[in-house]
Amino acid sequence: TKLVGLVGWRGMVGSVLMDRMVEEKDFDLIEPLFFSTSNAGGAAPAMAKNESKLQDAHDIEALKRCDIVITCQGGDYTNEVFPKLRAAGWNGHWIDAASSLRMKDDAVIVLDPVNLPVIQNALAKGGRNWIGGNCTVSCMLMGVGALYKAGLVEWMSTQTYQAASGGGAQHMRELLTQYGTLNAEVRSLLDDPKSAILEIDRKVIAKQRNLSDAETANFGVPLGGSLIPWIDKDLGNGMSKEEWKGMAETNKILGQGEGFGSAAVPVDGFCVRVGAMRCHSQALTFKLKKDVPLADIEAMIAADNAWVKVVPNTREATLRDLTPVAVTGTMTIPVGRLRKMAMGPEYLGAFTIGDQLLWGAAEPLRRMLRILLQ
Ligand code: HSE
Repeated sequence: TKLVGLVGWRGMVGSVLMDRMVEEKDFDLIEPLFFSTSNAGGAAPAMAKNESKLQDAHDIEALKRCDIVITCQGGDYTNEVFPKLRAAGWNGHWIDAASSLRMKDDAVIVLDPVNLPVIQNALAKGGRNWIGGNCTVSCMLMGVGALYKAGLVEWMSTQTYQAASGGGAQHMRELLTQYGTLNAEVRSLLDDPKSAILEIDRKVIAKQRNLSDAETANFGVPLGGSLIPWIDKDLGNGMSKEEWKGMAETNKILGQGEGFGSAAVPVDGFCVRVGAMRCHSQALTFKLKKDVPLADIEAMIAADNAWVKVVPNTREATLRDLTPVAVTGTMTIPVGRLRKMAMGPEYLGAFTIGDQLLWGAAEPLRRMLRILLQ
């Protein structure tokens, strides 16, 4: 039985991962060793077997005991601990949700329904670093990976609608606090059906512009009743880091582009934070390399993996199946609004959604663990 170290299992992504591992009975197959950054020596959670005490997540000797380490602790932890652990001669498998190591040559971005051949190839060559992708990219490829696998994509443009959870647990709380504050500001007017909507609107915008620092500590500006067309760092070239990841990670996941001796597929667009809770949505525009009939495209997408679901491009089906509310907490990746666009028959439009904590974060890590246990 492999000894599997679990780090950052108590946080938001880590908790989703633990739930999925319990659901899929992964703990039956491993000896878990639970680590903590704050409570070493404390009692490990119920999934523990022989190793009933929490280990210190900074203890290199304890980490070295593990055959496999899975961390959802975050990038700072990875940056600090991973180099020390490797320098200490540890040869185990490192599975990581953080972005720190993603673009390293010796790391694979894992999303096995899309890139199992890339993973297997790296495994055969002795690869030991397995990193989860950016949530938006992973959810997008779970939906429309078929078009990439078929070599049909000349380029793709993305317009995202990203949920608060992408920022973290505190961001989700902040969004709901803002909604509550705005509702409270106009509640009596809302209760009066004869009140003037423009007065409600005036009060809301005044409140949004005067939210306390505490109410915007995480996003910096109001998100409730607004949106933020910038996610992650400013790269100084007009792009946000989130937008940069779209092209860099899509190509790396697929094992193409720079470092693979082939041309990268251009992917570009705008990443926008909206007031959704934990599902990232995105509108996609493809330039295909040739005119493929829409029915064939739908069939390819639908057959690609067990989780993608083509949603008929009707109002009724869209409202029922293609919203963050419909998708949250499920493994389903709906792809809808599929249609040829006015620019020409090679131009395809699509809209897709994924739970940012499941396929966007926890699930690819869990599945990589399973691959290593085979
Ligand atoms: N960077 C993503 C976001 C989350 O902020 O939505 C992690 O991939």
